[in-house]
Amino acid sequence: MVASGSSKQWLRRHVSDAFVRQARDAGLRSRAAFKLKEIQGKHRILRPGQVVVDCGAAPGGWTQVATGLVQAPRRGFVVAIDLLPLDPPVKQAMCLQQDFTLPASQDRIRSLVRQYHVLRDEEAKERRLARQQKRNAAKPSSPASNEVIEASEPEPQPAPSRPDEVTAETVEKPAHAVSTRPVDVVLSDMAPSFSGNKSLDRLRTVGLAESALDFAVPLLRPGGHFCCKILQGPEADELRTRMRSLFENVFYEKPKSSRTESAEGFLVGVGFRVPGEPGTTRSTPREAEEADLVAVAEHEGSQ
Ligand SMILES: C[S@@+](CC[C@H](N)C(=O)[O-])C[C@H]1O[C@@H](n2cnc3c(N)ncnc32)[C@H](O)[C@@H]1O
Repeated sequence: MVASGSSKQWLRRHVSDAFVRQARDAGLRSRAAFKLKEIQGKHRILRPGQVVVDCGAAPGGWTQVATGLVQAPRRGFVVAIDLLPLDPPVKQAMCLQQDFTLPASQDRIRSLVRQYHVLRDEEAKERRLARQQKRNAAKPSSPASNEVIEASEPEPQPAPSRPDEVTAETVEKPAHAVSTRPVDVVLSDMAPSFSGNKSLDRLRTVGLAESALDFAVPLLRPGGHFCCKILQGPEADELRTRMRSLFENVFYEKPKSSRTESAEGFLVGVGFRVPGEPGTTRSTPREAEEADLVAVAEHEGSQ
């Protein structure tokens, strides 16, 4: 039997609703979580130890996936922002209820990320000092240093800091040693309240994605990644063209968990190239994976 138009729609919705049930069964806050999982399965944009900004995060499905993959808060760090509260907050992330498009919100995210790196740098210094002191203590000819160790060796620290230690009160500390490109991945699943006017909805959705890209460009580390929700149309085509000038590869994805009848899709920019600087090369998935592993190792080595 060939399904009629309306039964096709019913079947599609039924399959999509299966994702709602799966999300509930898996303890995920939204079916949207599966979209990021599918994108991750193809492009491996998230890795342990990364710093991620998750825009349009409520109710928190992407945040759950991202914190799991970057191993936050032990190794990575996720800032999740939405107009709506993440209720309850995803406790492995720093959750902000703010309008992402406001300069003050973006300042706050930058400060939090910087503060996170400062804390990690301080912890790394403490660990190096502790290791040095242990080495000194192990030298048989320096009994005096043993005494110093016993008096001053810090307790072993779990690394890195929990995001709830990075509070609004602590973000004003100077970020002297922090990279000027401290973010590995920017995600945007932001969507406006849909009006029903297709061209207006497209314009607004792509506008939110553009604001996430504008935010990402000065902050992304070379080789970093960007993923944003769009509604297909001429605005998204323009955004894709712009992304092509910024990333080694740009992919359009329509995850199975995204309703087929919707114009929703995702643009994934893989391998950020800092404008005006020689690019990182990520021409094959294998090279991309190796580049990521090197980046994670460097990230960890610097701790
Ligand atoms: C599709 S939902 C996000 C779903 C979420 N990624 C998840 O996995 O659960 C889109 C979200 O974008 C948010 N949003 C829209 N405009 C925003 C803005 N200017 N700043 C922050 N969030 C915004 C909405 O409040 C909404 O929660």
